Amino acid sequence: TSLLVLNGPNLNLLGQRQPEIYGTETLMDVEASCLAHAQRLGCDVSCFQSNHEGALVDAIQAAKGTHDGIVLNAGAYTHTSIALRDAIASVEIPVVELHLSNVHAREEFRHRSYIAAVSIGLICGFGSHGYLLAMDALKKHLDVRV
Ligand code: DQA
Repeated sequence: TSLLVLNGPNLNLLGQRQPEIYGTETLMDVEASCLAHAQRLGCDVSCFQSNHEGALVDAIQAAKGTHDGIVLNAGAYTHTSIALRDAIASVEIPVVELHLSNVHAREEFRHRSYIAAVSIGLICGFGSHGYLLAMDALKKHLDVRV
């Protein structure tokens, strides 16, 4: 089983960016935790971050045939990007939508997600631990499917 952890815009600034909302761990810390968790789960994981919508679309397309599941924190593109939604719908790879913060307890514009309807589920509000919860969910989903 091979998972992809995909992070969108401004998540490269984790640790420095509004730590009261997003925590003090850096993206490198989070990716290291994902790697360690993949070992526990007995699967492989690749991590990728981009601030560019098109690069995220490319990464989702490239996951077809190389990855079995995607943990996607699309950042603000969650609330705006039909292109990301279409990319997910095109590749038919299970996606778990993830947010560090509880987007539903925040501004109205964060309540709408274009990703949710093409995801198998959504985890938000648990900080960086959410990435590990999302990996667990994907692994379970993939295991019962095969
Ligand atoms: C986020 C929530 C989004 O609304 C925001 O634009 C982000 C981060 C989160 O992880 O909580 O960039 O996806």
